[in-house]
Amino acid sequence: MAHWSEDAVRLSLVKEQVTHVSDIEAICHKDVPEAYLFWFPAGRTDDDGALSSEVFRQFAHICGDLHPESVVCILTTPPDAARLLPFLEKVLRFQLWVAVKVSDGTGTEQGKLPNKHAALLVLTRYRGSLRHTKTRIQYTYCPACHKTTKDYGGKKHVYHEYGTLMSDVWRDMDIDPSKNIEPVVLRLRDLFGLSPYTTLRLIDLRHCAELLPQYSQTCVSEPRLQFAYDGPPYPVESRLINADCLEAIHTIPDNSVDFCFADPPYNLRKKYDHWNDDIDSIRYFEWCDQWLSELARVLKPGRTLAVLNIPLWAVRHYQHLAKILRFQAWIVWDALSFPVRMIMPSHYAILCFSKGNPRPLPGIVSPVEGEMEYLTPLAEGFCLRADCVRNRRLRGIDDSSNLTDLWYDIHRLKHNAYRVDHPCQLPPMLMRRLFALFTKPDELVLDCFNGAGTSTLVAHQMGRRFIGIEISQKYHEIAMERHTQVARGEDPFAKRDEIPVAKNSPVPRLPKQRYVVSKKALQMEVKRVAQIVGHLPSREEVREYGRYPIELYDRYFISWGEACAAARTTGMSELPPNYGDRSFQFQLGFDE
Ligand SMILES: C[S@@+](CC[C@H](N)C(=O)[O-])C[C@H]1O[C@@H](n2cnc3c(N)ncnc32)[C@H](O)[C@@H]1O
Repeated sequence: MAHWSEDAVRLSLVKEQVTHVSDIEAICHKDVPEAYLFWFPAGRTDDDGALSSEVFRQFAHICGDLHPESVVCILTTPPDAARLLPFLEKVLRFQLWVAVKVSDGTGTEQGKLPNKHAALLVLTRYRGSLRHTKTRIQYTYCPACHKTTKDYGGKKHVYHEYGTLMSDVWRDMDIDPSKNIEPVVLRLRDLFGLSPYTTLRLIDLRHCAELLPQYSQTCVSEPRLQFAYDGPPYPVESRLINADCLEAIHTIPDNSVDFCFADPPYNLRKKYDHWNDDIDSIRYFEWCDQWLSELARVLKPGRTLAVLNIPLWAVRHYQHLAKILRFQAWIVWDALSFPVRMIMPSHYAILCFSKGNPRPLPGIVSPVEGEMEYLTPLAEGFCLRADCVRNRRLRGIDDSSNLTDLWYDIHRLKHNAYRVDHPCQLPPMLMRRLFALFTKPDELVLDCFNGAGTSTLVAHQMGRRFIGIEISQKYHEIAMERHTQVARGEDPFAKRDEIPVAKNSPVPRLPKQRYVVSKKALQMEVKRVAQIVGHLPSREEVREYGRYPIELYDRYFISWGEACAAARTTGMSELPPNYGDRSFQFQLGFDE
């Protein structure tokens, strides 16, 4: 693990251990702004969590009395984080959910994935955005091609030579939440190493009587609902339905679907064709609870319902689903964004619940030939460049690892060439992995927000029956058209020539154009002018001192900030600083 926090004054560390939640109050300094890290016990089950409401309420009450500048971090299991957050949000402002990689994942209970991440909640007593030092994570290099593990393409000049800014998935460390969380502690001491903080207070709750795991890992309590399955297979034919999801799911019989999936609108003001993505949040979650209950109704016993959302919304889904189904897995999908903001939210939660006890995971106990590749993630440390992957195969380098609940090898759809006219399509590989893991061929999958059809198309290709529901006629027709491509043996996910109109971000797209001077050359020119004037130059200064017409900047860049991107940083090299040095090649263990 290596990070570098600009201008940080590392916080001193004070460790405290408490055996009762009520003891916390006495050791907190209400008159001094401090950063706190509360270390919850590992190994608690969902049943433990369900019994903890009173303790969580008491804990939140204590946090609400801290100094108004305090930062509160909590390291715990994802289900406990989801149960705790509603109490904390009454008194603190939620800032971040960081998924922290844990060393060898525990728990291969029936129907579960090995657990590979803990939740680090970051909240503040103050409103407004999180104040922290600018912290970068050092680049890592692929042992096969020696290039950075992320591909910075033509943008190397806008990245820093040390590393990238942080995202909300900390995979560069391995912690053991039951024994050793040193790397997290060190990072927080630097991250909050700025005024007015001087101390990180680590409060160890691992031996706190009220929080000790009551149940063993193998404890199986009664499912919340009992279901009998007696219907015939439904439906015989796959279908796409152009309708509102609630209306359409009502027509599906109880206990008839093998895998329910939902990638709902996030209510984050996306521009959908036929949906207002900016409704009151209470109404939004009431609506979510309705379709989640309906999905639970149509799901067969022992089968899985998976819902994908941003971590904070997943918390709300968790609370509803935990009342009616059994928690199965909290998959973190690191969608691999390039951090451009201070701490870039880059992951989604895929919450998996089963109806009663889950059946053994089909993809683990009886993987289908040809689907193993979907279930075999890339070992960490290798890059995703297609030519390097091919080369590794040719050289016989084993770059595979085992599937856990931390997914980091599937990119969000990056290139317009792979998009159709829909603002937020999922990458097909994500659906391939989910279907290969949770279903068998010919089983029935349901996606009630089918969009441009990613899941039903993948189901079609993988020989699963499917129902896809989509409210927009336009998206429904796009999906229908793509299914006819599958039926003709064509690939609906192949590269395309047209640029889609729909966009994932509110920033307008610039028209396709020929660049008289490359954008990189313009950005480097801004950097040169910055050196002359001694600060980030204004547009007027670049007009005066620059070598290119200012109109080019206006035409090629979305904002002046983008034009200044290279001037704000040092620029990077894609190869390690000591590349070419023979001892370095030797350390990597691969000969060219
Ligand atoms: C996040 S997108 C799903 C994208 C999809 N996973 C894909 O890869 O194409 C959510 C979709 O839900 C649709 N939608 C919104 N409200 C709906 C409703 N009440 N019933 C059915 N579909 C709805 C939107 O039109 C949008 O296409």
